[in-house]
Amino acid sequence: MDIKALQIEARSAVKKAQNTNDLEEVRVVYLGRKNGKVITLLRSLKDMSLTERRQVGPKANTLRHELEELIKRRGNELQEKNAAMNVDVTRPGDKVRVGHLHPLTQIEREVRDIFTSLNFSVLEGPEIESDYYNFDALNIPPNHPARDMWDTFWLKQPSIKKDKSLLRTHTSPMQIRYMETHKPPFQIIVPGRVFRYEATDAHHEVNFYQVEGLMVGEHVTLANFKYIVETFLQQLFDGDVQFRFRPSYFPFVEPGIEVDIKLPKEHHRQGGTWLEVMGAGMVHRNIFNAVRYDPREVQGFAFGMGLDRLAMIKYNIPDIRLFYSGDLRFVRQF
Ligand code: DAH
Repeated sequence: MDIKALQIEARSAVKKAQNTNDLEEVRVVYLGRKNGKVITLLRSLKDMSLTERRQVGPKANTLRHELEELIKRRGNELQEKNAAMNVDVTRPGDKVRVGHLHPLTQIEREVRDIFTSLNFSVLEGPEIESDYYNFDALNIPPNHPARDMWDTFWLKQPSIKKDKSLLRTHTSPMQIRYMETHKPPFQIIVPGRVFRYEATDAHHEVNFYQVEGLMVGEHVTLANFKYIVETFLQQLFDGDVQFRFRPSYFPFVEPGIEVDIKLPKEHHRQGGTWLEVMGAGMVHRNIFNAVRYDPREVQGFAFGMGLDRLAMIKYNIPDIRLFYSGDLRFVRQF
């Protein structure tokens, strides 16, 4: 047989092999010890004349080595292809890392859920306020010493505007905004971000979160407030909480009170001592006057609490700055 033709045929046969079985067949056809075409050719050398042998011998040997090499390479190729296609469908999938809610968002949602279940509506207000809503309408006139309680970020002002703008220092302005556009009876909460121009430390941040509450109707009293607060605190702290009212002063309520809670020592870093968590009181008549409600016809209670503080107490967080640090080692613990 013509060696050249044999070489072409063998090369293409190797190339066409689609799996290791095909390839083994090709090997047997050309290099098989019994009848392999190339092997037979080599064996027939001994019957050839010397000149013929000198001519054919080297070519046949080269072909043999070439084929061995080609078959080996094709074998590796087929094995690699096989591994790529060999998918283990029983293997567990790669875990997709999903993010989760920040602890402050979590506690805000808990608070929303509890108050919604008590038939409160949830609304939000602007973070940029005027001094009218943040102070004056809340019975805190210019020069009133109570303005000291809310160290304020004032915003630069175009001179034509007579109301000064600021970053709200509390969520209470939404009491006014809501009452200006709604009629009692109603009950609302207003979660939101507030700002204070303060030096930061473990308990102070320049911005933090509050939830404001307001319930107004013909006969709404502090007794109603007591029930609402009790239900709220019991749910938020899974029934494991004591609370008390203490007289206090806020310009927009009369009488004003503060709510303290006490948690069991075993589960809470700050357990066993009274902790102040909320300001509250009966809405001051000057507030009703500011929104043109008649104080002889309606009454109600208001309250305001710090969400950061609640979260710190509930989750034993020692430093308020951790909430805003962007440190995932902190966030992932919740
Ligand atoms: N706005 C007060 C503060 O930021 C909290 C507060 C106290 C809100 C008494 C109220 C209230 O609605 O009745 O400190």
